[in-house]
Amino acid sequence: MTYNKKSIADIDVQGKKVLVRCDFNVPQDENLQITDETRLLGALPTIQYLHQHNAAIILCSHLGRPKGEFNMKYSLAPVAARLSQLLGVEVKMAKDVVGPDAQALTNALKPGEICLLENVRFHKEEEKNDPEFAKKLASFADIYVNDAFGTAHRAHASTAGVADYLPAVCGFLIEKEISVMGKALSDPKRPFVAILGGAKVSDKIGVINNLLDKVDTIIIGGAMAYTFIKALGGSVGTSKYEEDKIDYAKQMIDKACSNGVRMILPKDNIAADHFAPDATPIVTESYCIADGLMGLDIGPKTCEVVTKVIHDAGTIVWNGPMGVFEFDAFAKGTLAVAKAVAESNAISIIGGGDSAAAVEKLGYADKMTHISTGGGASLEFLEGLELPGIACLNDK
Ligand code: 3PG
Repeated sequence: MTYNKKSIADIDVQGKKVLVRCDFNVPQDENLQITDETRLLGALPTIQYLHQHNAAIILCSHLGRPKGEFNMKYSLAPVAARLSQLLGVEVKMAKDVVGPDAQALTNALKPGEICLLENVRFHKEEEKNDPEFAKKLASFADIYVNDAFGTAHRAHASTAGVADYLPAVCGFLIEKEISVMGKALSDPKRPFVAILGGAKVSDKIGVINNLLDKVDTIIIGGAMAYTFIKALGGSVGTSKYEEDKIDYAKQMIDKACSNGVRMILPKDNIAADHFAPDATPIVTESYCIADGLMGLDIGPKTCEVVTKVIHDAGTIVWNGPMGVFEFDAFAKGTLAVAKAVAESNAISIIGGGDSAAAVEKLGYADKMTHISTGGGASLEFLEGLELPGIACLNDK
């Protein structure tokens, strides 16, 4: 899917009231302290640009899944406080979303000032993409900017519906995400290598299918690989696999063959007799994992093959860890891939969610060309699906 959407740089924002949808869905600890501020940092260029251009900025976002009810556990107040520090400008926090407080605050907002509405998912109308709710949000502003890449796969009132009522453009984060990933898919530097991991084939069905039309090599790791190994007649012990996806795995193996794509499945694995951080790691051949053992990571021979392929790549798209990287004993495969990608000269694109967390945890984040801020959204983009939060914006 290629987009050619207007961005904030293409329109006049000077002195205007601008409603900016961000993805401030950040992880928090039990004291509501933000534990990863990647998404806040990702939103700064757009907010700073609008601030420098003297716009009155009305930020909005969801946080978590409060199921359409006010629940202060999901309040965006900690985000407003942290954003104020990061921007060096006060971000005024509204007590509601479209209620009297938001109304008063946005009415009084002057050019150069910034406010943040409460969690849009405190209203069930948000996820229903209710036109009246979208209209109320739109009534606060002259222009709508969507910069919430992480939520661009949702057709909600604040991510899509609102664009029916205002001039609608993207922010710099969405612009960057679609230009880097779009280029990789439409005009990749070859060899183009996809590395897919994670727990389930079912999460990646569309992605595998779409990428098999574009890549030169596909590497499959994580628990997902066991479904493919089963499809090839291997025994996987107690490893997680999806019985109902075996046929699909067979089809994908055939598709790789007929498209001339090299599909790399693990040759060997690190297994254990139970799922725990202190379980004893045992190296096994992938196609004959003994009864009672479950594969939890790719093995050393596989790491060697994969490292070489990554080294020679021109473009790499990586989504999903190779094993249970949260447990040190089973993180070596993911670490080897992260290190190889970091050391390669390829354009490297890391899908959000777990792969971004893995790269961050392993200390290679700054060596990647692009780490997407969207988990589900980047997957849908790689699947070639239309993202409603982008499709609704004005064309150039
Ligand atoms: C995410 O974290 O992937 C986005 O913020 C979307 O959240 P959602 O899956 O609750 O819609």
